[in-house]
Amino acid sequence: MREREGVLPVGSLKTIIVFVSFMVLSILNANAQNAPPILLGTAWYPEQWPESRWEADLTLMQQAGIHMVRVAEFAWSRMEPAEGQYDLDWLDRAITAAGKHGIYTVIGTPSAAPPAWLTQKYPETLRIDEEGHRAEHGNRQHFDFANAKYRELARKVAEQMAKRFGHNPYVLGWQIDNEYANESYNPDTHEQFQHWLKARYGTLDNLNARWTTAYWSQTYFDWSQIPIENHYGNPGLLLSWKRFVSDTWRSYQKNQLDVIRANSAPKQFITTNTMGWFDGYDHYTVEQDLDLAAWDDYVGQGHLDPAGNGAAHDLTRGFKGKNFWVMETQPGFVNWAGVNNSLDKGEVRAMAWHAIGHGADTVSYWQWRSALNGQEEYHGTLVGADGTPVPLYAEIQQIGKEFQKAGPYLAGTSPKSEVAILHSYDSRWAIDWQRHNHEYDPVKEIVSYYRPLRAISQSVDVVPPTAPLSQYKLVVAPGLNVLSDAAARNLIACVRGGGHLVLGQRSAMKNEDNGLQTERQPGPLAELLGGRVEQYYALENPVPIEGKWGTAQGKLWAELLSAKNEDVEILERYGKSNGWLDGQPAVITRQLGKGRITYIGAWLDGDALKSAAKWMTDVSGVKPAMGPVPDGVEVYPRYGDTHAVYILVNLSKAKQTISLPSPMQDVLEGGTKNSLDLPVYGVAVMEKKR
Ligand code: GLA
Repeated sequence: MREREGVLPVGSLKTIIVFVSFMVLSILNANAQNAPPILLGTAWYPEQWPESRWEADLTLMQQAGIHMVRVAEFAWSRMEPAEGQYDLDWLDRAITAAGKHGIYTVIGTPSAAPPAWLTQKYPETLRIDEEGHRAEHGNRQHFDFANAKYRELARKVAEQMAKRFGHNPYVLGWQIDNEYANESYNPDTHEQFQHWLKARYGTLDNLNARWTTAYWSQTYFDWSQIPIENHYGNPGLLLSWKRFVSDTWRSYQKNQLDVIRANSAPKQFITTNTMGWFDGYDHYTVEQDLDLAAWDDYVGQGHLDPAGNGAAHDLTRGFKGKNFWVMETQPGFVNWAGVNNSLDKGEVRAMAWHAIGHGADTVSYWQWRSALNGQEEYHGTLVGADGTPVPLYAEIQQIGKEFQKAGPYLAGTSPKSEVAILHSYDSRWAIDWQRHNHEYDPVKEIVSYYRPLRAISQSVDVVPPTAPLSQYKLVVAPGLNVLSDAAARNLIACVRGGGHLVLGQRSAMKNEDNGLQTERQPGPLAELLGGRVEQYYALENPVPIEGKWGTAQGKLWAELLSAKNEDVEILERYGKSNGWLDGQPAVITRQLGKGRITYIGAWLDGDALKSAAKWMTDVSGVKPAMGPVPDGVEVYPRYGDTHAVYILVNLSKAKQTISLPSPMQDVLEGGTKNSLDLPVYGVAVMEKKR
């Protein structure tokens, strides 16, 4: 075909566009420095403000030491105001404007908030909840996560964004969606579940056998007969639904992740923001495709509980086995708790350092400035509705300065632990569906062990039961109720390899179909233990327990243990209670070569758990990472190749003096110190060459 005179041929036009884009990116690349190693950030919603306001916001952010903004995760209607009409120019300008202030961007894909044209045109994409109600427009997360049309539209907008920003040097990475939470019960989801079951179980005979459907005439003769159950029902069906939901979130995520990866520079990470202990799906399933784990850390009502919150940090670190991000945290207070009290003056800073200590490399505040309307008008912010700093801003500024100072010391460092706590979603769900004692909360059980173990060792990993365990001296499995064959092999290898495995109450009762093991607890580990659980009892009242760990009380749950092999030592026995338990073993242990296995049959009270943790760590050779500190002072070690950094935070109610085990460099204040005085909420960052 002949080209029209005076008009550039299409091929040449493309070449020019590619060349110009290349030049623009090269100039941007040359200007963009590497982002600081420890980042202070905030969620920024430029689409909610006139562009003329951006400069003032970015200047205030820069003055606070903020180097990262997360943007766009709810801006679908702005980025695609009509189907297939994309407008990303404004976002490009926002990213460039932020870059000029030394602020890098993380882009959220907007699939948590589909626009009104979409839900109107494709109402089948709206989620149906468990009660059968279809969501309406006007909130967020109102989509059906399994719907093919929804996925297609979400992928297309993500693809446009990745094509536009995938090589922008000011873009550090991507957050897919926002807090995956609500599964759908739409007919298409139900059908997909039935297909999923077929792929997993192969035949109905197999499924019927493994779920024991002879019970209550539950036998299925056709895949289409299988219902969805989420709270009460056949335990095999319940667990399968959760596994299907986990796989569906994974494929939902992969749908966007693949187009982002295909169109972005490898150094741009892909993450999503999770919610601590939230158990709507198995995070180990979903996180495997991501580059980085990130979570939203909110206290809500009350104040920072360093063990409860710290365990959630460690849980998140365990998703990828490396440092993570706090993608959102509260600037003082939230708007959704019973009482939305503010954290105390100094507590926000203490909490930021507590996060860094647990292995966060970024702490980002939600949000910069509240939208002038919308559901979250009362939430804490860094600037007020008038656009000027709130009182907390000065504390954020201090954090900014400190991150800047400590960044070079913390670069390339991460926590490393001698103690692991095993955590499994299967087990948490299994216990939650059949608590047997309504107060039995599996997360509280995990934290009850975590609390004293962390206080002694000063560093704990939280990992799944199939994780490599050879680096740990002590592996504690509270409530590992569902034990897969692979996990059982892993735990046996851990003990045979010289590790100390401690099984907490309710361990190994179920198989991977959430059915009962045909051996008494701890099922496939009973032979190794040389003992077993004879019977379990839900407790109305605490029972006395006594033995090597002193006098204690057991609450909620008690398992009557027996010792079969002669080399099994009985550490604790029940005192007088229901007759069945009187005088019977409550804790047993057995040494096997250099390894050891211990079973704790009762939920011990706090003091007894402290003694138990002391015994466990002593017998396993676990030492405190830094050394003894006063109660209420938290120590967080992070290690690099040539040095260690110890972050210390005083979360007690009084000023504390800490004597250091050896002279250390004070990173924030300068000088070498042998001891430290920390006021309430005081923070110190100390460096020691290794
Ligand atoms: C979550 C969401 C945010 C915001 C905050 C408020 O973490 O991701 O969009 O709603 O809660 O606390």
